[in-house]
Amino acid sequence: MVDLSIGTPVDDTPAVLSDALAAAGNAPGYPTALGTAALRTAAADWLQRRLGVRLADPLGSDPSVIPTVGSKELVALLPTLLGLRGGGTVVIPEVAYPTYEVGAVLAGLAVRRTDTPPDDAVGVVLVWLNSPGNPHGRVLTDDELRAWVRWGRAHGIPVVADECYVTLGWDVEPRSLLHPSVAGEDHTGLLAVHSLSKQSTAAGYRAGLLSGDPELVRRVWEVRRHLGLLVPTPVQAVMAAALADDAHVDAQRERYRARRERLAAAVRACGVRIEHSEAGLYLWVTRDEDCWTTIDWLAGQGIVAAPGSFYGPAGAQHVRLALTATDERIDAAVERLGG
Ligand SMILES: Cc1ncc(COP(=O)(O)O)c(C=O)c1O
Repeated sequence: MVDLSIGTPVDDTPAVLSDALAAAGNAPGYPTALGTAALRTAAADWLQRRLGVRLADPLGSDPSVIPTVGSKELVALLPTLLGLRGGGTVVIPEVAYPTYEVGAVLAGLAVRRTDTPPDDAVGVVLVWLNSPGNPHGRVLTDDELRAWVRWGRAHGIPVVADECYVTLGWDVEPRSLLHPSVAGEDHTGLLAVHSLSKQSTAAGYRAGLLSGDPELVRRVWEVRRHLGLLVPTPVQAVMAAALADDAHVDAQRERYRARRERLAAAVRACGVRIEHSEAGLYLWVTRDEDCWTTIDWLAGQGIVAAPGSFYGPAGAQHVRLALTATDERIDAAVERLGG
């Protein structure tokens, strides 16, 4: 079986991370919820260098960036951490990573699926964007991002962008919600979520970042000081080292690029359509039939895909193929598809 159903990294964690972990093993005291000054400085530098984002002072009294235990955990807990429990609706993408809905349900909130700002904002308490998106690799344009920023600010509703695939643009360069050409110079009402899992092949470290509006970051930070979910000190040291090093991110990106090109060519050669997939770690494919029929067809060739219906009703005619497999497994998939 070639399992392309799950987006878990399979290549070795680069030495820049594992060496930093080995060097940071002496950690007798509790970690800070805020993150070390070295980590917050490295995170702000990374956001500026790689994404053109200028955060408010990362060492100021209101934090503009804090580390998070993974980003899945943050996504699942953000409505709760922001104190949004009780009633209302979280807006999530039409076809979406399931944890946005999990976070809403945990906080007793409803979800509304839409890719465009709705006419009425009644009851909406939070907006999740995901660009590049999982499962379809869609990248929101600057105009689309600006429309959400305007809408969120007009209604006083926080807009949060999950950008865990932001370094993995293929046909387009993904833009951060916090970029000055989208947000202006001021991040009021806006948050971005980043993750080292994919870009640094470190999903096992559970290393993420929350940045943007210092007032919103402060709310999360203050709750976490008492709730816990503190990022372990050795992982904070790893994050600072990883965020300062572009070489390993670029090298990993090239591995994924090569796998994507081989797999996409084989998929297209079978007459199967690939939609979006301009960024990120998945091919979003359709044969214009129910996704379970496509899953059966692929299974007949020994390939496991994820059914699009897992990500929302609008995904019912697609399947998701992950690029997170070894070269050997990708080559096996290509061969089975007739390439
Ligand atoms: C859209 C999206 N957000 C968040 C995550 C979680 O990543 P992590 O918790 O490893 O940072 C994933 C993982 O696949 C994802 O696809």
